[in-house]
Amino acid sequence: MMQIITAETAGFCFGVKRACEIAEKAASERGTVYTLGQLIHNNDAVETLRKHGVIPVESPEEANGCIIIRSHGAARSVYDHIAELGLVCIDATCPYVDRIHKIVDENSRDGSDTLVVGDKKHPEVVGILGFANGDIRAVNDENELNELIKSDKNFGAKSLNVVVQTTFDMCKWTDLQKIIKKHYTNVKIFDTICRATINRQEEAAALSQQCDAMIVIGGAHSSNSRKLADICAANCRTFFTENAAQLEKEHRSALISLISSYNDVKIGITAGASTPAYIIKEVHNIMSEIIKDEAVDAEFMAAIDQMPRVRAYAGNRVKATVVAVNKTEAVVDIGIKQSGYIPAEELSANPNLTPEDVVKVGDVIDCIVTKVNDADGFVYLSKKQVDAQAGMEKILKAKEENSTVKGTVTAVVKGGVIVTSEDGARVFVPASQSGVPRNGKLEDILKKEVGFKVIEVNEGRGRVVGSIKASEREATDAVKAKFWEELEVGKKFIGEVKSMESYGVFVDLGGVDGMVHLTELTWNRVKHPKEVVAIGDKLEVTVKSFDPEKKRVSLTAKKPEDNPWTKFMNEFAIDDVVKVQIVSITPFGAFAQIIPGVDGLIHISQISLERVTDVSKVLSVGQIVEAKITEIDEEKSRVSLSIKALLDGGDAADDEEEASEE
Ligand code: F3S
Repeated sequence: MMQIITAETAGFCFGVKRACEIAEKAASERGTVYTLGQLIHNNDAVETLRKHGVIPVESPEEANGCIIIRSHGAARSVYDHIAELGLVCIDATCPYVDRIHKIVDENSRDGSDTLVVGDKKHPEVVGILGFANGDIRAVNDENELNELIKSDKNFGAKSLNVVVQTTFDMCKWTDLQKIIKKHYTNVKIFDTICRATINRQEEAAALSQQCDAMIVIGGAHSSNSRKLADICAANCRTFFTENAAQLEKEHRSALISLISSYNDVKIGITAGASTPAYIIKEVHNIMSEIIKDEAVDAEFMAAIDQMPRVRAYAGNRVKATVVAVNKTEAVVDIGIKQSGYIPAEELSANPNLTPEDVVKVGDVIDCIVTKVNDADGFVYLSKKQVDAQAGMEKILKAKEENSTVKGTVTAVVKGGVIVTSEDGARVFVPASQSGVPRNGKLEDILKKEVGFKVIEVNEGRGRVVGSIKASEREATDAVKAKFWEELEVGKKFIGEVKSMESYGVFVDLGGVDGMVHLTELTWNRVKHPKEVVAIGDKLEVTVKSFDPEKKRVSLTAKKPEDNPWTKFMNEFAIDDVVKVQIVSITPFGAFAQIIPGVDGLIHISQISLERVTDVSKVLSVGQIVEAKITEIDEEKSRVSLSIKALLDGGDAADDEEEASEE
């Protein structure tokens, strides 16, 4: 009886699948995108992608608009060159390869040499070679390694870091490590073979040991597919093919002869990382034709259908170890053959955080399996869902204690906003509780970090209602209480002018407003506050008095050191003659400014030798006159001036006047 067993790990690996998805998405958005080299080592798949607008080019110069770095990655200089050309660069480097770039870069900064075990012509190795900061070499086998050891004694003599191509043969790698450890004394070895590759190779080895023949599907240039064929060929007859048509054309007769020579024949199928699922199915169809055996066909179909089986299932909670992190996802190991994959949006409920903000390589985290992709063998997980469960427990506690919960506004919905707590719980905040003014826009608080009070929880429906406003009110009350507690006369503030009246301005002192009267704004004489301040100005003020009961604070913006009266007393004395400017006229005389902030009174009797009955007839505002300081009342800050005293006979006239008054 014919038996066909398909390897669970056959087909697209995580990195290739991801690169294809990235390219197809970019092409659907931009129309045409270019990939630097073929995205995958499979001509059929490349042609299919071309039809979708994904065009391979050999150099960045051939691209137009947008270029995609494939899963193999590229040297640092390539990224720089793309930037120089002004192209948009979409990086689809596999996270496992990206990890090697980081290892090479970071560990060679101290001048250490780097050895890459792999094919120096393979694009992945070419890319890795472009990330070292010191000397870097590549060896592909024992001969090349021994040749390097023999020919260059200085290489790795001080210290050496070793990485390995992700798709390198596991057995060869084990052998080469022994030689490296023996020869190099100060060596750090990083086992960077991809788990998908290890699994695929181990399964191919095991399957080929129990089968009479193996069909290995892969592109002619796919090194990982070639390696699979080598592994299988060591155990049984192996047919290497790129697709179903080639299998039929080149191997049909050999397969018929093989099948006919066995009564019970077991044929295994595996495929390289670049082989799409549809090609595996086409191979199956051709195999059906070749063997013309419906029973076999059914078994083959069953084998395809069962490919691959995973032990994880949706909804299962698992522990995951982070093995790679990049800007769009985290790759995790959940202790099974399949790679675990947590997209950025499933890592955290906070849209402001990148995967690198949430986890780092080596972290062990709790996750929930969200999807098992049988076709590709990937397990998709969510950390966010686990966080949300924990978040709900904290929400209940916060309600009980009336404590404030921190979160981020993640969406604007009908009637309010959704706030996602730091622990991942989703909370509905009605517009009236959002703290946004009635005529404001809820969008203004989108992505903002906020505190909220839990006002309602419906555990059954998983519904939580919160109030940002209540939290803000509590915070404001606390600030105010502290303000009054710490307030004292003489305390200084820098406050913002919030409003203005003709008699003064109101200044926000940090939640509480104080008032600066017009006369306390400046030492100079002003008629309206707008002459010296504007709304929004920052003002340095000092507390003059306050009343906690009436919640009133009186402030002054005058600084003692600027007091013009002090200046006047230092610079002027009685009998000094000064040039003054008339600033106002009254029935009993005129006020004149001596220096800014100090005015003197020219009494009506001191204006002229003649008798003056109407001051405005002899003096006018703005007029500059000479006058003598005749009196200074320091206590009352008053100055008397006389024009008459400077006129001939002025003093005598005064004496006569005084005598007649007596
Ligand atoms: Fe990445 Fe491993 Fe595939 S390194 S591209 S997932 S074989």
